[in-house]
Amino acid sequence: MKQNNTSKETNCIHSKFRDKDASGSINTPIHASSSYDYRTPAETVYPRYYNTVNQKEIVQKLCALEEGEDGLLFASGMAAISCTLFALLKAGDHVVFASQLYGGTFNLIKSEFPKFDLGFSFVSGNNARDFETAIQPNTRIIYIETPSNPLLDIIDIQVVAAVAKRHNLLTVIDNTFASPVNQNPLALGMDVVIHSGTKYLGGHSDLCFGAVITSAEIAEVLYKSAVNFGGSINAMDSYLIERSLKTLAVRVQRQNENAGLLAEFLSAHEMIGKVYYPGLKAHPGHEIASRQMRGFGGMLAFELKITDVQAVDCFLNGLSLIQPAISLGGVETIICSPARTSHIKMSREQRMEMGVTDSLLRLSTGIEKAEDLTGDLDFALNLVKQQAGNNMPA
Ligand SMILES: Cc1ncc(COP(=O)(O)O)c(C=O)c1O
Repeated sequence: MKQNNTSKETNCIHSKFRDKDASGSINTPIHASSSYDYRTPAETVYPRYYNTVNQKEIVQKLCALEEGEDGLLFASGMAAISCTLFALLKAGDHVVFASQLYGGTFNLIKSEFPKFDLGFSFVSGNNARDFETAIQPNTRIIYIETPSNPLLDIIDIQVVAAVAKRHNLLTVIDNTFASPVNQNPLALGMDVVIHSGTKYLGGHSDLCFGAVITSAEIAEVLYKSAVNFGGSINAMDSYLIERSLKTLAVRVQRQNENAGLLAEFLSAHEMIGKVYYPGLKAHPGHEIASRQMRGFGGMLAFELKITDVQAVDCFLNGLSLIQPAISLGGVETIICSPARTSHIKMSREQRMEMGVTDSLLRLSTGIEKAEDLTGDLDFALNLVKQQAGNNMPA
C-alpha cells in the first residue's frame, strides 16, 4: 500500500486506489449506502467497518501523503485521538505526554484516563533526557504534538522516536498543525500520526473529521477497537474530504507563505509584544523545525504589547477582514483567544503553567492576499495605540 514515490501535490490529486465506475467518471462516485451485499466480497462492507470505497479512497491518499501503510478515518480529531489511545492501552498502562497539547487532548487525559486506571506524566522540556526520565516500567506510549497548539512549541521528532525505540515504546504524534504537506513524522521514526482533519485536511471550515495513519500492523490493532467504538464517517463527508484533499498542497503552501509574512509584520510592529512562529529565527525551535518541516505552517500566536482586556477587545473589534472564530486551518484567516476557545476547559493555573495567558491570540492564516491581512492587522493595532494614548508601555 505504500506509495510515496510521487510529489505531495500529485498525491493530493491522484490515488492508486481507484474505484472508477462504468461511467468513466474521474471522481470517486459517492456510495451512499449503509447496506451492502455480504455474499460475494472477501470482507463485508459497512460504514462502521471503515471499509467503504469512499473511506478507503481517502485513507489511500493520506497514506501516500503521510508515507504510511494504512489508516482509519473518524468523525472528529478527538475520536481519532481517543480511539488510538484506548486501542493501544490497557488498564495499568502509563503514557508520557508532551505538556504542550491541544486543550481537548489534555481534558481527555485528565478526565478519562483515571476512570480506566491509566497513568500519565507530562513532560515540559523537549530534549531526550526530559522524556527518558518520565518513562516508568508500565509506560507504553510517548505522545507529542509539534508544532503545538497554540504556542507552536517544537519537539525534535527523531530524538523522541529514538528514546521510544530504546525503551520499546510506541510513539504517537498529533500532526494537525503541520499537515502532511509540511511534516511527515512516520518517515522520522514515529509509529502513529493523527490529524484533526477538521483543520487543514478539510480546509474550508465546513467539515469535522479525524484521521490516523500508521503501519498495517498497528492499523489492524486500531481497527479492532474502532469497530467497537464506532466513530466512522459517512459517504457525503467522505466525498467532501476527498474533494478538499485535492487542493491541500496549494492551500498549505500559500498558508505557509502568508503566515511567514504576517509573523515578520507582527514582529516588527510597535504594538506587538511577542510573536510565536517557528519560521522566525528567534523562535527557540527554529533550527529543529527547519530540519524536520518542509514549511513552517499557517499557524502563529502573539501577544499585544498592552495585554489588558480592553486592549485585546479593542484589537479584535477593530479587525474587519480577519474573523474572531474557533478552529483553524481554513482558507479564511481567523483569530482566537485560546484561553476562551481551544484551552477553555483547562483551569487557569494549568493554562498559565503551559504559557497560555489570558491575552494570547492565535492566528490561523488563510489564503487571502497578504497585504490585505497586514492592512487589517495594522488598522486594528493602531486603534489600540489610539485608545492607549499616553499610557503606552515603553
Ligand atoms: C492540534 C489539535 N488536535 C486535535 C484537535 C481535535 O480535533 P476535532 O475538533 O476535529 O475533534 C484539535 C482541535 O482544535 C487540535 O487543534
